[in-house]
Amino acid sequence: MEKIVIAGGNRLEGEIKVNGAKNAVLPILAATILNGGRNIIHNCPDLKDVSASLQILAYIGCKVERQGTTIIVDSSNIKDYHIPEHLMREMRSSVIFLGSIISRCRKAVLSYPGGCEIGPRPIDLHLKSLRQLQIKINEAHGYIYCDANKIEANDINLNFPSVGATENLMLAAVMAEGTTIVRNVAKEPEIIDLQDYLNAMGAKISGAGTSVIKIEGVSKLHDVEHTVIPDRIVASTYLSAAAITGGDIKITNVNAEHIQAVLAAFKECGCKIYIEEDSIALSRTSKLQPVDVIRTLPHPGFPTDMQAPMMSVLTLANGTSIISETIFENRFKHVEELMRMGADIMVDGRVAVIRGVPKLTGASVNAMDLRGGAALVIAGLAAEGMTTIECIHHIDRGYEKIEEKLRTLGADIKRVN
Ligand code: EPZ
Repeated sequence: MEKIVIAGGNRLEGEIKVNGAKNAVLPILAATILNGGRNIIHNCPDLKDVSASLQILAYIGCKVERQGTTIIVDSSNIKDYHIPEHLMREMRSSVIFLGSIISRCRKAVLSYPGGCEIGPRPIDLHLKSLRQLQIKINEAHGYIYCDANKIEANDINLNFPSVGATENLMLAAVMAEGTTIVRNVAKEPEIIDLQDYLNAMGAKISGAGTSVIKIEGVSKLHDVEHTVIPDRIVASTYLSAAAITGGDIKITNVNAEHIQAVLAAFKECGCKIYIEEDSIALSRTSKLQPVDVIRTLPHPGFPTDMQAPMMSVLTLANGTSIISETIFENRFKHVEELMRMGADIMVDGRVAVIRGVPKLTGASVNAMDLRGGAALVIAGLAAEGMTTIECIHHIDRGYEKIEEKLRTLGADIKRVN
């Protein structure tokens, strides 16, 4: 089993470029099914979930090819509308294929996507809203059977601004008869990127990034070429490496507009932020200060995916911080691991109280999920002594070669077998 070993204490300095956004490229890969043609997608990260998506596309008949960070998908010949269990379980967000397979084939059979480390990950909002497009959905034997001889537009209100449900609705309604209006949708930048991708293939969608999205059904979609937006969570994670080590890091190829809530939290911690055209720099020379309260919220609120890395930074603040995780029900699994490193954190339900300590000490810890694992790397960079992180396959799902990137910034970090 691979693990990451870190000798903490180095100040991180330097400049790195972040790859394309995992949470943008995954729905975009699902959208490649829609046009029955060629899809050229640039700036794709090389991650396990992306490979899992390519396996699903190949399974149903697409021709997929990767040339460096460019992925080419030809969806001319779809031969199946089933996604088998072993492929669905590979990746929690595989439910995102539902909308595009139904749009293209008018049928879809998917096994229930497995839950994951941060909670059961229900899909009730997905199914409830797809049914409002007159899609017949039966659930039995752990499978979802969908049938729609025609998909009819509707006026839909989401109970919660679910990212995945918003994306599934966009994919299912893009060739529906009529104009679909969806209210209380997710406003994440990845939703805007999906709208841009779909419109580039001939869709007529507007409103992404606001609470209301309008989808005018079209009958045909054509070939498309697109560049995926930068990964705002990966960028924020590397900035937290500068914050915790008192370093000075510049991230290029990133849009500061996408992470204003995270930048505000870094400033409250006493970090200096410098924003240019497409880069963000963070440095810290004074003592880390606590943040009164961080509440994870749908965009543009503080992103739940940055809750764990930010908690690592706050373990060394000069006072007490509170984090409330309002999005997922089980996203504090990194707390116990951080406490093995000397952090002082008390969890009550979805609220964590972080009392700053003078130092963390290196320890042997386990990554329990993607962002919690990244948080342990961030903590290890500042801890005194050696930190060994096991189960790093979780981290590799969202970060390309994290140890190489951090080593270029001066971290004493390596991946060992
Ligand atoms: C997306 O997950 C992201 N994944 C997550 O990133 C991210 O944390 C999340 O959005 C919130 O921003 C991808 O984009 C691939 P949701 P998603 O539907 O779509 C509940 C990462 O680390 N819910 O907005 O699954 C759900 O259980 C990952 O990169 C229902 O109850 O998020 C959760 O508590 C982790 N019923 C909340 O809503 C539903 O039908 C938010 O879920 C759907 C969701």
